[in-house]
Amino acid sequence: MIIGVPKEIKNNENRVALTPAGVQTMAKNGHTVYVETNAGLNSGFSNEEYIQAGASVLETAKEVFDIAEMIMKVKEPIEQEYDLIRPNQLLFTYFHFASNKPLLDAMIKSKAVCLAYETVETHNTLPLLIPMSEVAGRMSIQEGAKYLEKPKGGKGILLGGVPGVKPAHVLVLGGGVVGTQAALMAAGLGAHVTIMDISLPRLRYLSEIMPANVDTVMSSQYNIEQLLPHTDLVIGAVLIPGAKTPYLINREMLKRMQPGSVLVDVAIDQGGCFETSQPTTHTKPVYEVDGILHYCVANIPGAVPCTSTLALTNATLPYAVKLANLGWKKACEKYDDLKKGLNVVDGKVVCPAVAETFGL
Ligand SMILES: NC(=O)c1ccc[n+]([C@@H]2O[C@H](COP(=O)([O-])OP(=O)(O)OC[C@H]3O[C@@H](n4cnc5c(N)ncnc54)[C@H](O)[C@@H]3O)[C@@H](O)[C@H]2O)c1
Repeated sequence: MIIGVPKEIKNNENRVALTPAGVQTMAKNGHTVYVETNAGLNSGFSNEEYIQAGASVLETAKEVFDIAEMIMKVKEPIEQEYDLIRPNQLLFTYFHFASNKPLLDAMIKSKAVCLAYETVETHNTLPLLIPMSEVAGRMSIQEGAKYLEKPKGGKGILLGGVPGVKPAHVLVLGGGVVGTQAALMAAGLGAHVTIMDISLPRLRYLSEIMPANVDTVMSSQYNIEQLLPHTDLVIGAVLIPGAKTPYLINREMLKRMQPGSVLVDVAIDQGGCFETSQPTTHTKPVYEVDGILHYCVANIPGAVPCTSTLALTNATLPYAVKLANLGWKKACEKYDDLKKGLNVVDGKVVCPAVAETFGL
């Protein structure tokens, strides 16, 4: 199969869909890869590395779209890419159609095959979303620690303390992928960590795998209120699939916290779990409400493209190889997880959740 990897052109998107290692794997499987010039540069991969791995480098996105049977991307196509897409061309990327009707209309019109990372599903998990949650969970502590520093506006406390001085207290709300990675990271830095969830089986699991400086506590407004006066950093990592995130900390509850404490709302992409959360960007990540710093960046992994690209492509490559080896039809017949990724085929919406969202 001929595979094309255009450079991502969405604002602040520095990841790339295929690494030189991925090119080598594709080449070994008998496929041909074309990469747009400088597509991997912001993730740490030069054109030369791609060429050495067996790819050909093309100057423009148009050339890549014109020649490729399968386009591998990271973000959804944006307007200036719509006209480059050909009927029957396979697009393997994040789409997030439910929040983007113009994109859905454009893909229906294109008659391309849209296989979305975010709906590939295996054993009730979303394997192509997990890596980005892992990155965001770990980053949330790094960012929280930074904004707890006095020059950054925080109260001026070191997460791990030092011998003779108590560590900071970190409260993690939600013990899923993001919350688990955040708790492990904070605990590794020496902080005293409490992780809350509403699922007792999940809390049991967490209590088995977490180090001794992590407590597991059932999530409730009462328990959160009790902890807030002693908490320096709160990580919001709650998800209720298909629903808006509930507010676990309202504005009134901020009064219980000490000034200069930090809230990191990772769940902001689903509406956020603090009443006072508003989406921010990497250009201006934080703002203050009632003396409490809020970090609410909606695409946290975007700040560490070298790590995020590898984390994403580690997960996507095995699926891409199946698609290239078998073609999308046979691959989706054979592998149910891939079939669930199909969203739009030949002008028709084939993903029930997307169809229901728009009454199609
Ligand atoms: N900002 C970013 O860049 C970024 C990146 C990746 C993921 N996210 C977001 O982070 C959030 C968490 O993602 P995830 O992959 O960890 O989800 P997940 O499904 O793995 O975990 C969510 C957890 O929240 C728990 N939960 C539900 N209601 C709760 C409550 N009231 N109190 C405490 N816990 C509760 C669930 O039981 C579950 O364990 C999602 O909204 C996701 O979209 C954001």
